[in-house]
Amino acid sequence: MNSSELYGVLAEYQQRAAATLPPEIWHYLEHGAGAGHSLRANLQAFAQTPLLPRVLAQVGGGGTALNLCGQRLAHPLLLAPIAYQALFHPEAESASAQAAQAQDALMIVSSLASRRFQEIAASGVQWWFQLYWQASRQASLALLQRAIDAGCSAVVLTVDAPVKQAQLQLPPHVRAVNLEAAPDPHLMAGQSMVFDGWMRQAPDWQDLAWLRQQCQLPLLLKGVLHPDDAAQAQALGVDGVIVSNHGGRVLDGTPSPLAMLPPIRSRVGPAFPVLLDSGVRSGQDALKAILAGANAVLLGRPYIWALAAQGALGVAHVLRVLRDELEMSMALCGMARLAAPD
Ligand code: FNR
Repeated sequence: MNSSELYGVLAEYQQRAAATLPPEIWHYLEHGAGAGHSLRANLQAFAQTPLLPRVLAQVGGGGTALNLCGQRLAHPLLLAPIAYQALFHPEAESASAQAAQAQDALMIVSSLASRRFQEIAASGVQWWFQLYWQASRQASLALLQRAIDAGCSAVVLTVDAPVKQAQLQLPPHVRAVNLEAAPDPHLMAGQSMVFDGWMRQAPDWQDLAWLRQQCQLPLLLKGVLHPDDAAQAQALGVDGVIVSNHGGRVLDGTPSPLAMLPPIRSRVGPAFPVLLDSGVRSGQDALKAILAGANAVLLGRPYIWALAAQGALGVAHVLRVLRDELEMSMALCGMARLAAPD
């Protein structure tokens, strides 16, 4: 990560996290896939996108509130699903949830959370569940049902990471406590781990159509970059897409999500919820994404730096700072509200 893209509070939390975490955990958090082209593209896309101020606009009484998938949010800064948060702080997802609750932020809880759904929900946070497809429809549904029973209010199916890369040997105290242990794919001699292993267990469009039928809650698809994929998800009755390259952690060489946002927005029309993550590092970045067509953005690594450095207080601080930056940037750009994109 190029820290010169960062300033202020986030730069400090990043440095403190780097100094606090064991090197292999810092590396797992921070690095992208391959040579890091996608990771850099994400940051550069924001750096190269200007914000054009408007003067003398009447924005008094404005605000950041929005409706998303039938739910009222105070602001459009969501916590992205990040696995195994016990790697970064002893209070793990519980600390992130407390911070989100205190700052009126929506938290998306990973399938690979290291705290039980009930414990996370006990903070009173508004939360969505991020589903990683399990080895079968039944196993996926059973996991989803556990999250629903614990009170999630929407489901995010992440589909951009069917191959397993950023592998870390987890310390014994860190595991995905909400999952049943699943057998590793069994390969015959000469078979490919990619095509005969991981991809056989990955979901396809038919599975998505099936999940849509099973799931009464709003269902969003995370990890979309191609406008055709966004359109296909919309046609299947999905409630929204999250334009993302997983923070540059899966396929190196992708375009940045920010670059793909305008073509996706124009493809799905103005009313369909489109969110974005990967590279959001400031309230100004959030506004750039919103002006490019996003309804809301997800924060990834930045809140984990703050979690590692200072637990719930740090995460709450980052949310507050980015929200303040967003409000100030909106005002300076003459925006009283997060206008529906045209
Ligand atoms: C992730 N991400 C992720 N996504 C997801 O759907 N489920 C998950 O369990 C995880 N786990 C995870 C762990 C770590 C350490 C990172 C850094 C990322 C991806 C995440 O939700 C989001 O898409 C990216 O983090 C956004 O990019 P930035 O903002 O971190 O650069």
